[in-house]
Amino acid sequence: MSSDERRTTMTRTDSRVTIHMAASLDGFIARKDGRVDWLETSDEFAGGETMDPESIAAFLKTIDCYVMGSRTYETALSFEARGFGWSYGDKPTFVLTRRDLPRTRETVEFYSGDLAQFVTGRLRPSFGSIWFVGGGVVSGDCLRLGLADEVRYSILPILIGDGIPFFEKLDRDVALHLAEVKAYKSGTIGLRYEVRHRLDGDQSLSAPGEDG
Ligand SMILES: NC(=O)c1ccc[n+]([C@@H]2O[C@H](COP(=O)([O-])OP(=O)(O)OC[C@H]3O[C@@H](n4cnc5c(N)ncnc54)[C@H](OP(=O)(O)O)[C@@H]3O)[C@@H](O)[C@H]2O)c1
Repeated sequence: MSSDERRTTMTRTDSRVTIHMAASLDGFIARKDGRVDWLETSDEFAGGETMDPESIAAFLKTIDCYVMGSRTYETALSFEARGFGWSYGDKPTFVLTRRDLPRTRETVEFYSGDLAQFVTGRLRPSFGSIWFVGGGVVSGDCLRLGLADEVRYSILPILIGDGIPFFEKLDRDVALHLAEVKAYKSGTIGLRYEVRHRLDGDQSLSAPGEDG
């Protein structure tokens, strides 16, 4: 990071990095072959909350930009090609890739390289609410590098047995604080955890067995 970037980074203290994904109860975000057909479930939980379209739209407005891995981007493109639309509105969407992928809209920007430098030097100075929307590889890296402030985990009422895990292997424990739990009429549970940052240099990570 250049000294200019470091100075700018230090001027913005209100930025927040959120990881958000939906997963099966057994912790998978997609089948092994990448299919997410199981995201459409038919459960009904009596007394569960519903979210009306206006409050969803108001909530989405609070997100300033999205970050995703290339495989998640490819899924988003295939959804769009099948007529399901683009889930990220007109918000800047940063796609991590080392490949030359099609760019279908002006809001999409590609990045390749050091994720920590990208988040602290480029995203945090410019955006308040930064949402990592998958997949497992990128979310795992984000946590491993101590870049996330918050994890939002939507658990769907289904078991799929095998697939791509919510987080790719972490080599350490990450201590969390449960901040919110919501149960929806659809049978989905929404969990919001804050990452417990430590005061020493290594931020959120603690070695196994360590009380951090
Ligand atoms: N259930 C949910 O909520 C949810 C959410 C998101 C995704 N998904 C599903 O999860 C699957 C994808 O997850 P995934 O874990 O396989 O992949 P992913 O995290 O979406 O993408 C990983 C890829 O991103 C690129 N990348 C990562 N870090 C990079 C960096 N620092 N610089 C440059 N490129 C970088 C690399 O690809 P290249 O360099 O080869 O391009 C890497 O292989 C899809 O099936 C998707 O549908 C589900």
